[in-house]
Order: sequence, then structure tokens, then C-alpha cells
Amino acid sequence: MDQINICSEGRTISRVIVAEDIAGLDGCLQKYSRVYAVMDSNVAMQCPAAAELAQMLNGRGVPGMLVSASEDRKTMDTVMEICSWLLDNGADRNALVLAIGGGITTDMTGFAASIYKRGVRFAYVPTTLLSQVDAAVGGKTGVNFDNYKNMLGVIRQPEFVYVCPRVLESLPHRDFVSGIAEMLKAFMIDGAEDYSRAVEVFFEMMKEYSIVPEEDASEYWADCVNAHVSELTPLIASAIRVKAGVVSRDQFEGGERRKLNLGHTFAHAIETLARREAMTGDERPEKTDITHGEAVAMGMVLAARLSDRIFKGDMNDVTALEEKVRADLNACGLLPDCPFGVEEMAEAMHKDKKADGGKVHFVLLKDIGDVTVYDLTVEEVIRLLR
Ligand SMILES: NC(=O)c1ccc[n+]([C@@H]2O[C@H](COP(=O)([O-])OP(=O)(O)OC[C@H]3O[C@@H](n4cnc5c(N)ncnc54)[C@H](O)[C@@H]3O)[C@@H](O)[C@H]2O)c1
Repeated sequence: MDQINICSEGRTISRVIVAEDIAGLDGCLQKYSRVYAVMDSNVAMQCPAAAELAQMLNGRGVPGMLVSASEDRKTMDTVMEICSWLLDNGADRNALVLAIGGGITTDMTGFAASIYKRGVRFAYVPTTLLSQVDAAVGGKTGVNFDNYKNMLGVIRQPEFVYVCPRVLESLPHRDFVSGIAEMLKAFMIDGAEDYSRAVEVFFEMMKEYSIVPEEDASEYWADCVNAHVSELTPLIASAIRVKAGVVSRDQFEGGERRKLNLGHTFAHAIETLARREAMTGDERPEKTDITHGEAVAMGMVLAARLSDRIFKGDMNDVTALEEKVRADLNACGLLPDCPFGVEEMAEAMHKDKKADGGKVHFVLLKDIGDVTVYDLTVEEVIRLLR
């Protein structure tokens, strides 16, 4: 068991426990007399470790609510449903709300707990790779609003986050690969050695998976994750450490925390455009069906291109960094080429919540493990990327 603390002004404000077994969660719940569990319905149905968890929570008399994890349902309506359910079940100011699921479930539940009775305590058991290394760590909660991602939300820390990589065995291959993008992002910010190691491990996993007949794919993928869990666990812990370090130094995104947005200004624009495209009836999956991690991978390639053009000063040459990032993401099973033109992304980027005084904070790569925040107008970015 590994414990990573998130601190502020010399005080621990949240802790992340990385554990081999789900059973250890029981000990973390000991001190809370009133626990309420909100669980992703797919996790409840598909994840063997969640069955073990449900049994433990039942034994403790913990009431449970199932939610469906989709971006369409990541709204204030679902947050209100969670609040109503807490109220109906008599949750008072002593409640601990436990979210079990991926980033959608933890973001919505954390937000609901943050506004219910002006804020009750909450904790997470993240069940996707993306939420283990990123979404569940750092205290950002929220929901989508008016076709924009995560427009409403607050920053508030969970009591604890219990990370058990074993729960990933039932995670569909595509969702697993999405999480790889956020893990590599952490190492691009800080951790060149872990970056290379992660690319090696994921490349190996994708190679093993690529030779499996389609009909056996999901079963084989579960075996593949289980076979690699001992290599994944320290990488997951390292990625959490990167994020925990940044958040500890800048909880409310006044400066350094912006680095965690590497690729995200583009990613949010890509996700906004994909949703808009889907609403107009476009049925091309490459333009409408893009997960958060896939959008982040595309965003990181664009960030690398922008970095090449700014730091190397050649407007026409696609230079080494972009090629390296694209090749590495490809090796890890991601298809990082953006289906939208930069002009199309301009409007969505203008509205991005990170826009500040006409300029947007873009995170640029100087090298793997070395990033810097650069303020640019959207027009400058379009001109540079064209
Ligand atoms: N708060 C933050 O700092 C932060 C950071 C990054 C991303 N996010 C948010 O996280 C969300 C994406 O999170 P995600 O990728 O974890 O997706 P998710 O919560 O949508 O989960 C992906 C899919 O996997 C299923 N699933 C989850 N765990 C499973 C398991 N163990 N077995 C089987 N199925 C499982 C879910 O039901 C869903 O269908 C986005 O909404 C994004 O905005 C938040």
C-alpha cells in the first residue's frame, strides 16, 4: 500500500491510497459513521472487484445509488438526482459520499457532495485508468453545461481516493487506452523516465492484444491487464505523484496547475465540436465519437506542433517533438490525428474557461518532462498551426 498526500500550507488536505486489493477500503471507511455510495452502473455489473466492494458496503449497511456514466448525463439534472437521493436517505452533515466509477461519476458525485447542505465530505474509488491518474486526484468537480465541458463546478478535495489498479480488468479496451493519454500527459509534465517506461509497457500490451481474434477480445484484454498489473501499479502511483505535487503547490490553478492542462484547450474544443457535430446528425464516428482521453491525445499532438513552431521558429517544418509524441501515442494504441481544422476549433477555444483577458494559457513542451505555460491569442495559435 502506497500513500500520496495532497498538501496545502503544510497541512494534508487529501490523500491517495494505491493498494493491491479492494478489501483495504474497509479500513479507510472505519471512521465514517454514515456512508452513502454512488456507483457507476457499468462498474456494478461488469467489475468483479466491485461485486466484492458492494458486498462489503452492504455489510456496513451503506445505501447505494446507481448512475449512468455518459457525457450526456454529466449534467446538473444528475447532480440534483444525487442530492435528492441523499436527502431521501436522510444524509446529514456527517455524511461521507463515496463515488465508485470513472471520471464522470467522480466529477458529478464530488460536485453533488460539495453543494449538498453547503458541502458534505466525499471520497472516491476511481475505476478507470483516467480517473485513477487524473480525474479523481486534485479536487476538480463539475458537470457539462450549455454544450461546454465542465462549465459548472468547484474545486474541493475528497477526504481520500482509494486506487486499486485491479478494478481495471473489466474496463473496456478503448476506455483503458483513453486513460493512457492522461498518464503520458503527467509524465510529459514531469517524468521523462516514467514516460519511456510507460510507452514500453503499453506498447507491449497493445502488441499482445493486437493478435487476439475479435470474438475473444474483451476476455483477453482482461487477462492482459491482469498480467501487467504489477508493472502498471508503480506507473499509476508515479503519475498520481506528479499530479499531487502540482496540486499541492497550486491548488486553485493560479499558476503551476495550469501545466496539467497540457493538450486540454485543444481537447475541450475537439469535444465541443464532436458534440455539436453529433447534434447536427453527423454519423461519422471519427467526428462524433471521441472520448476525453482520445481528445487529449489529439490535443497533445497539436500542443507539440505549436511548441515546435514557437521554440524552433520554423513555420512550415513539422519537427521532432510532434513526430515523437504522435509516434508514442500511436504505439500505445491511440489515434492522435485531429479530425477538425484549427479554424473550426477557434470559436470553442475562445469560450474555453481557461481564456483570460483575450489570451489563452497554452501549455507547451520544451521536451518530454519539461513544459511551460505560454499566453497566446487564439488567432496567433491558428496562424502558427496552419
Ligand atoms: N476532475 C478532473 O480533474 C478531471 C480530469 C480529467 C478528466 N475529467 C473528466 O473525466 C471524465 C472522463 O472520465 P473517464 O474516462 O474515467 O470516463 P467515464 O467515467 O465515462 O468511464 C468510461 C466508461 O467506462 C465505464 N467504466 C468505468 N469503470 C469501469 C470498470 N472498471 N469496468 C467496466 N466499465 C467501467 C463507464 O461506465 C463508462 O462507460 C470526463 O467527463 C472528463 O471531463 C475530470
